[in-house]
Amino acid sequence: MELLKRKILEEGEVIGEDILKVDSFLNHQLDIEFLNEVGREFWYRFKDEKVTRILTIESSGIAIAAITAQYFKVPVVFAKKNISRNLDTEIYTSEVFSFTKGTTYQIKVAKRYITSQDRILIIDDFLANGRAVLGLKDIIEQAGAYLVGVGIVIEKGFQQGGKTLREAGVNLHSLAIVDSMRDGKIVFR
Ligand code: G4P
Ligand code: NA
Ligand code: NA
Repeated sequence: MELLKRKILEEGEVIGEDILKVDSFLNHQLDIEFLNEVGREFWYRFKDEKVTRILTIESSGIAIAAITAQYFKVPVVFAKKNISRNLDTEIYTSEVFSFTKGTTYQIKVAKRYITSQDRILIIDDFLANGRAVLGLKDIIEQAGAYLVGVGIVIEKGFQQGGKTLREAGVNLHSLAIVDSMRDGKIVFR
């Protein structure tokens, strides 16, 4: 998506060799007019898939999932990372290893918000090693629902997530794929 690539080049900040900071429009401040175009692009990519629910993970996936859901006119469900006292007792859980944090955490979705009839689109802001998306995919499988595809705003192509998901046969659409960020220079695939 050319508009997205331009936005990344204009506003993205490279931290070290492997972190792309996009706080001005995606991860801290939200540029709603711009994100509406991103949501519309996901709609073009997945509009024929009869999506019934969008699934993401808290916290930074929620904004783009919610904007995208307005085109599909379906609810957004976000997996929770923290134990909440008022979370339903009937839940699906999956274990996610975070390379960034070096720890494993549980993600949770109440059983009532995914059914075996669902055709689910996963939306997330970043794809790095893909562990979060694999955790969501595991929960979809536990529920007996169908994963129609995965929509990612920015894939870091030099990490393993994209390869892992494509090899698993997942219908993955990343709107921008960054192949390297050496010396602060962003190179797209
Ligand atoms: P993985 O699921 O792809 O294996 O992700 P990983 O554990 O490596 O990353 C942890 C969090 O950091 C994820 O956010 C991921 O989206 C985000 N992240 C990874 N690389 C980058 C990057 O280069 N730039 C930015 N801005 N974010 C990155 P999360 O699980 O959604 O956590 P949260 O931030 O919403 O709490
Ligand atoms: Na994040
Ligand atoms: Na995310």
